Amino acid sequence: MALSKDQVVAELAKVPAPDGTPLPQTGTLSDVVVTDGKVFFSIAVDAAAVKAWEPVRKRAEDAVRAVPGVQSALVALTAERAGGAARPAPPAATGRAPQGQGNQQPGIPGVDAIIAVASGKGGVGKSTTAVNLALGLRDLGLKVGMLDADIYGPSLPKLLAIREKPQTIGGTRLKPIERYGMNVMSIGFLIEEETPMIWRGPMVMSALTQMLREVEWGKLDVMVVDMPPGTGDAQLTMAQQVPLKGAVIVSTPQDLALIDARRGVAMFKRVNVPVLGVIENMSYFMCPHCGTRSDIFAHGGARHEAERLGVPFLGEVPLHMAIREKSDAGLPVVATDPDGEHARIYRDIAAKVRDMLKGGTGRAAPKIVVEA
Ligand SMILES: Nc1ncnc2c1ncn2[C@@H]1O[C@H](COP(=O)(O)OP(=O)(O)O)[C@@H](O)[C@H]1O
Ligand SMILES: [Mg+2]
Repeated sequence: MALSKDQVVAELAKVPAPDGTPLPQTGTLSDVVVTDGKVFFSIAVDAAAVKAWEPVRKRAEDAVRAVPGVQSALVALTAERAGGAARPAPPAATGRAPQGQGNQQPGIPGVDAIIAVASGKGGVGKSTTAVNLALGLRDLGLKVGMLDADIYGPSLPKLLAIREKPQTIGGTRLKPIERYGMNVMSIGFLIEEETPMIWRGPMVMSALTQMLREVEWGKLDVMVVDMPPGTGDAQLTMAQQVPLKGAVIVSTPQDLALIDARRGVAMFKRVNVPVLGVIENMSYFMCPHCGTRSDIFAHGGARHEAERLGVPFLGEVPLHMAIREKSDAGLPVVATDPDGEHARIYRDIAAKVRDMLKGGTGRAAPKIVVEA
């Protein structure tokens, strides 16, 4: 028999909170997500009570792991800072968020839409695509912000050549760095480049929450989030914690990358985030010397995959030396060669994304059919 959410919740009833209340009755549990033997949920508590709750989190995780059929369990502790009373309580606080409604976090004041740029795996050009897509949206007249949520390998400092540290306002809030007319924030601004990043579940969440909510983003039409690669528990956590209007999946055309992209689509589906579409990066090779085009990675794979999954296909970006050189030098093509062919491609993609955000937002977006 397949593992059910009820089985998991029943097991959690045996775990007492610090005051002895059975965990499911404390109102601190988020939705409990059960997929393919993987269980995920978070416990939202007061920042001041985190110490007392950490053993509860651990016990809950162990209890869930012991349920027959559970392959892995991730329980994250999320802390609300005391005094943040102006913030609406997350729906998780009711303890009764129905399954599949994970993405209903309060928005960020002043920010109209947050979109995630994600990929099933690293190295497919996700960050490069995110930056140029953001600049494309900027060129369409939108006020754009960029959040580097890839805490494992932040790349916006490099891709946007940002070396300065953000200033604090009033001792607590951070001012984003402005680059190419966009407000930018990255964990990479705050740590040294060589610092190895080891993140535990709760830290992942608090780092991201801080970058979202304790930064003076100002008024933005759209915030583009460069997500960490993959579809593991950390990514799922982020997809659930950030009030996303939609996700853009970047893939290369090879079969292996497409399998990962499919997982990416499925992950967002699972947390009720509409998939705005798929971009095929490194779609074909443009020789910088002779201008000849070669389809070295069996071009077109992502388009077919998007069709198969019933999600929009947003466009093809060629593999081109200029994109790599400019990207790695902190001079993204859309900003530094706005009249070039590549900038046009990214702007076309940006226009499609903008139209989708205008047309139908949130849960009203096109119906997504995903084969798990
Ligand atoms: N379309 C492209 N053409 C050429 N090089 C690219 C292209 N897209 C990305 N790259 C290069 O590939 C490498 C990985 O890209 P990056 O955006 O950092 O990927 P990810 O964020 O998925 O790890 C970088 O050196 C980048 O400059
Ligand atoms: Mg990256």
